[in-house]
Amino acid sequence: MTVAYLPDSRCFVLSGAASSYAFAHTEDGGLRHLHWGGAIPPDDLPALGERGPHDPASFGSAPRAYSEEIVAWGGRRFDEATLVAEFADGTRGVELAYAGHEIRDNTLRVRLTDAYYPLDVVLGYRIHPEHDVVVRWLEITNRSAADPVVLDQAFSASWSLPAERPYRASWLHGAWGAETHLTRRELAPGKLVLESRTGTTGHAHQPWLALDSGAVEEHGEVWSLALAYSGSWKLTTQVAHDGAVHVTGGLNDFDFRYRLGPGQTLTTPEFAGLYATAGFGDASRRWHAYQRAHVLADPRLPRPVLFNSWEATAFDVSHRAQLALAKQAAQLGVELFVVDDGWFGARDSDKAGLGDWTPNPDKFPQGLAAFADDIHALGMKFGLWVEPEMVNPDSDLYRAHPDWIYHFPHRTRTPARNQHVLNLARPDVRDWMHATLDGLLRSAPIDYLKWDMNRSISEPGGAEPGTNVWIEHVRNLYRVLDRLREDHPGVLIESCSGGGGRADMGILRRTHQVWTSDNTDALDRLRIQEGYSQLYPAQTMSCWVTDVPNFLTSRAIPLRFRFHTAMCGVLGIGGDLTEWSDEELREAAGYVELYKRIRPTVQFGSVHRLASPSEDDVSAVGYSGDREVVVFAFARSMRTGERRRAIRFPGLDPAAVYSDVDTGERHSGALLAHRGLYLRLEGDYASSVTVLRRS
Ligand code: GLA
Repeated sequence: MTVAYLPDSRCFVLSGAASSYAFAHTEDGGLRHLHWGGAIPPDDLPALGERGPHDPASFGSAPRAYSEEIVAWGGRRFDEATLVAEFADGTRGVELAYAGHEIRDNTLRVRLTDAYYPLDVVLGYRIHPEHDVVVRWLEITNRSAADPVVLDQAFSASWSLPAERPYRASWLHGAWGAETHLTRRELAPGKLVLESRTGTTGHAHQPWLALDSGAVEEHGEVWSLALAYSGSWKLTTQVAHDGAVHVTGGLNDFDFRYRLGPGQTLTTPEFAGLYATAGFGDASRRWHAYQRAHVLADPRLPRPVLFNSWEATAFDVSHRAQLALAKQAAQLGVELFVVDDGWFGARDSDKAGLGDWTPNPDKFPQGLAAFADDIHALGMKFGLWVEPEMVNPDSDLYRAHPDWIYHFPHRTRTPARNQHVLNLARPDVRDWMHATLDGLLRSAPIDYLKWDMNRSISEPGGAEPGTNVWIEHVRNLYRVLDRLREDHPGVLIESCSGGGGRADMGILRRTHQVWTSDNTDALDRLRIQEGYSQLYPAQTMSCWVTDVPNFLTSRAIPLRFRFHTAMCGVLGIGGDLTEWSDEELREAAGYVELYKRIRPTVQFGSVHRLASPSEDDVSAVGYSGDREVVVFAFARSMRTGERRRAIRFPGLDPAAVYSDVDTGERHSGALLAHRGLYLRLEGDYASSVTVLRRS
């Protein structure tokens, strides 16, 4: 049984293939955490005395002598709380006690009620045993017929790690053009706070964390946590003086004050916890498998090779010039042609036009449908860039509805990139957005949308009193996306926010891939892609080959290295193909052809980070599928006299034979794991792709 209740000991046990998660309800009505980690026979669990807070004095945070499944603020609780509430009479503090539970399939819902006020809290747990993933959330219901409750914090869950180990944390940090940089640090007493206050997932941190105690890429236990949410979020890891570790996370409590009206329920975003036994690589592969099975939109759909116009033409878009690019792209084997920014309204620069989602008649005199037909006639799908949550003051939309942006009376309306964020918390703006995009999709045969969001939310005002704008924006974004997907099921959607500013398991439920970064420099990309792969699978990682010198780094990296880097995810091209030489076009066509052959292994296989680009000049990443293994290797520079390094590929079938499709060389899985492949990487910016077929 994956979810069991042991009445004698009042224990709940969620059993995964390699893990157990256990807690009990206690005589005092609390929920006592028992274990999260390697599998333990259920009969052994009741006796587990998970050591509680050590409080010999009268100062500490010790309302109960154990770690709680939910830390509802009240009494002597000074640690990071899961839930903080204020009742209509001014009472602050919640006193919850167990009131029942239900188990259905793999889901457990434990109900707690307040001792006095009509407040119910359900702790939700769902286990995906094959991935050792436990998903948690809260449902907070105000049962009062008359009075609201104000929630000051409503996180999704608090997790307790096995005590008394020195833990290390891995997380992703970044900025625009430099997303998902992996960092690892020993935890020390105190708090590690990762968050976004921008209204989107953000570039600064990913809502993800991994904790280990001596793991490496292919060995050791890892506890990993990730939120499925695309708005402002927060993850707090707290290490107590005695080493106890708790992670609390969910909706950011900054500027929160959520009004829960009479009869209303707040269901918090899903917060997933994963336990892996074989290192960071195992944790990533489990996350990817979990997302393919339970999160991703159309997980088995091969993501097409695309061309995107942004770096080639910027705002200088026209039917004629785009068609010239499209003809070249079609000859390279590109499957999807995307016109980026600049096709609509008065959009000749970033100063005007956002909000006016009709094709510019000077640029597309025959309309969009005629252009789409031309693209389809070339054998490609047709895609379009949109940024529906935004408006330029210089637009017909803003002139008609100046109040449709987030703003406060008597306060500056702060622009960024000359634009403002539409107040999507308003139902009329939500309905306008849906109708506009639905109309656009019906106006022309559009196969793909790149949905961008190029600034953070500021001045979060202008909605109905009592509306939490941060949360309502995300709810309505999800509603519009869900409706569009339902009505236009064949349309692929790419999530973009100035690159990778909106990548998370909430948006990936509704979109097919993510524009990983505006930084297309192949060397910088290796590091960004290494970080991205910690949590998300390659089929969601959109990568383009663009022109050199790179617009950000001025580096001129060879075409081969640029292609090999982009082939590690969803291959795309973003260079000005009309400027490419015949030789470059021929070379590129070869890479596109090779990519299409290995695409099932790259997009649907298991990732193996074989050598890290953050640690060394030589890096490698491999993908293994049922019958094929693909290894990409990269060397930034060469030094005379240095020994060539073998790239070891652990985790394959040791007894199987793998043949190199180019050289015919045969290697056993054991040899690949223990000795490795010697790859020819000569000169600066050398790269290779090795395809091995299992016989
Ligand atoms: C953002 C995106 C780019 C491009 C531009 C267009 O920066 O990340 O890829 O679409 O907007 O304005």
